Amino acid sequence: MMARVHGWLLGALAAVGLASGAAAQDEVTHRQCSPDGTLCFELRTEDSIPVYRVLRGEEEVIAPSQLGFMLRGAGKWQRGVTLGEATRSSHDETWEQPWGENRLVTDRHNAMLVPMTEQVRTNRTITLAVRVFDDGVGFRYEFPAQPQLDEVIIDEELTEFTIAGKADAWWIPGGEWNRYEYLYSRTSAHEVGTAHSPMTFRREDGLHIALHEAALTDYSAFWLQRIDGQRFRTRLAPSAQEGKVRRDAPFTTPWRVILIAPDAPGLYSAANIILNLNEPNRLGEVAYAKPHKYVGIWWAMHLDRWTWNAGPRHGATTEHAIDYIDFAAEHGFGSVLVEGWNEGWWSESGRNFEFATAYPDFDMDRVAAYAAERGITIMGHHETAGNAGLYERQLETALDYYQRHGVQAIKTGYVADAGMVLREDPDGTEQWEYHDGQYMARHHALVAERAAAHGIAINAHEPIKDTGLRRTWPNLMTREGARGTEYMAWGEPRNPPGHEPTLLFTRMLSGPFDLTPGIVSLEGRGGELIPNTLARQLADYVVIYSPLQMAADLPENYRAAPDALAFIEQVPVDWERTKVLAGEVGQYAVVARQRRGGDDWWIGGVTDGEARTVTIQLDFLDPNKSYVAEIWRDGENGGIDGNRFAMVREKLKSPAAPEEPGYTSSGSITVQMQAGGGFAMSLRPVD
Ligand code: NOJ
Repeated sequence: MMARVHGWLLGALAAVGLASGAAAQDEVTHRQCSPDGTLCFELRTEDSIPVYRVLRGEEEVIAPSQLGFMLRGAGKWQRGVTLGEATRSSHDETWEQPWGENRLVTDRHNAMLVPMTEQVRTNRTITLAVRVFDDGVGFRYEFPAQPQLDEVIIDEELTEFTIAGKADAWWIPGGEWNRYEYLYSRTSAHEVGTAHSPMTFRREDGLHIALHEAALTDYSAFWLQRIDGQRFRTRLAPSAQEGKVRRDAPFTTPWRVILIAPDAPGLYSAANIILNLNEPNRLGEVAYAKPHKYVGIWWAMHLDRWTWNAGPRHGATTEHAIDYIDFAAEHGFGSVLVEGWNEGWWSESGRNFEFATAYPDFDMDRVAAYAAERGITIMGHHETAGNAGLYERQLETALDYYQRHGVQAIKTGYVADAGMVLREDPDGTEQWEYHDGQYMARHHALVAERAAAHGIAINAHEPIKDTGLRRTWPNLMTREGARGTEYMAWGEPRNPPGHEPTLLFTRMLSGPFDLTPGIVSLEGRGGELIPNTLARQLADYVVIYSPLQMAADLPENYRAAPDALAFIEQVPVDWERTKVLAGEVGQYAVVARQRRGGDDWWIGGVTDGEARTVTIQLDFLDPNKSYVAEIWRDGENGGIDGNRFAMVREKLKSPAAPEEPGYTSSGSITVQMQAGGGFAMSLRPVD
């Protein structure tokens, strides 16, 4: 214990030897601890540079890390800072989500506000706002209005995160051409280059840490660049404008978030902090943003059987849409996604897209009327090919058009290399932007706001990363921002079986993901088998949360797989509560979720290339009820090295009490997952 504290004190002692160049510390340390005292955040200056650290008990989780900015016209805002008085407060609230992994979310934290004034050059004050939870920390910079900070141009943010204690990291490269669509690498934290967030660490002692941000609005997303050792610094996504971020004071930056938990499952529940750091719902009732499962004219294009553009193999024809509507109505799906219905596919930078003009072989009026007759809606599609400028120009017309046709959710798309988003200035000038720069943060906010005004929800592909804005804008229902199932059709390589056990503890910390699971044929392009089992495709419906959840395969493949289809029909998409029962990043995960407004529980388990046996303690069940368990699991000869279609669907009998009607909260269930496989299970109370 002393050794750690000593590290922080060392600097204080060195203050005496300032002339020799050693770091000097102020006497003032502002400290705020979490409600149960598990975590503490400390802020002080060293050599007049603001520095923070995070402690868990007596141990450092984040070693001393610098704060600061590069400001246009003022240089580095970092040295010469003095800390003012801290203002403290506490917060304890439970709020309700309109939809989500958990109906109720508890926000319990202690807060601290500390003004930090740079006195060397221009007397600029930036206030650090800190919130300390029992399983993580959020802090952000608040730029108050002041004469020296009117228009603020940020060239770089200099926030550091120094991971204390040797750790491994799971990360994808930041700023690379394929945006967030990379397979996660597991390396020592010393080997990370520049990474997107969330980035997850596991220390040698088992402690799990994740870095991310919350409430990213009107600011550039950060990438995390390793400076040396395990020291990371924010690097903001570039902007075509002068400076990476341009704002008028007063304003606040997004929250910088550190999640801290003893194990991987704990990290997933700590991620509620990201929602808690966002502003409450601004839209009120969002009945149109209704969780549901959908099918669509989609996988056939990824298989290269149909095309998005008009022609002999055109996917989005009136007839195909009507077939899908019939299939959806017969099997209880809520909407049908139609891609490739509008004029303009596919032109360089999407310059020819027309968002309110259907191809001649797609009769939108007829399709929409037929869908309404059958109790289905159309899920709209606006692929922009990264031409956000053109989309903004047509936005009102495009949203009006869909609203008139009863559309309640739109999948948007920004397929373009990183840095190749096309922006249009009012004078017609074109600029190239990043998917995660300030311009796109504003663009997504604009689309959310305008869509809400039309009673429409958004499912964004090639998006900016999720930072919990669904709390404020609950019509921002889901998004992509990771390698989804399309990579099972044509990806080189395909998504390996360890993908979802990695995603759950990395990408999924940020929010819902439109994975588009349910490939029951297990076939990608050219009939090539995908590295998953049938039971595993079902497990993904529980493990990977999305309030809009696709059944992505072709109707004829579902008709040929009735047991799998029965599961997809029944599995809920909106949850009362979620518990990650077990898991290790990249290896396996078992997730239990209770249906929202119901007593039934659904469990999904996924494993990487290794077969695993898991025992599930049922202590989360209502102790006054008895449950019937039904499982969809890999067969004994299953797994990716065996028969991946071998799936057993059965009602389980409790070995502890075979004569009883079912399982109780004192029971347990042991399940075998084959290599690359998994299982899905329902537990329904006996009346
Ligand atoms: C990429 C998206 O992820 C995919 O779902 C969509 O089908 C294509 N773009 C075309 O918009």
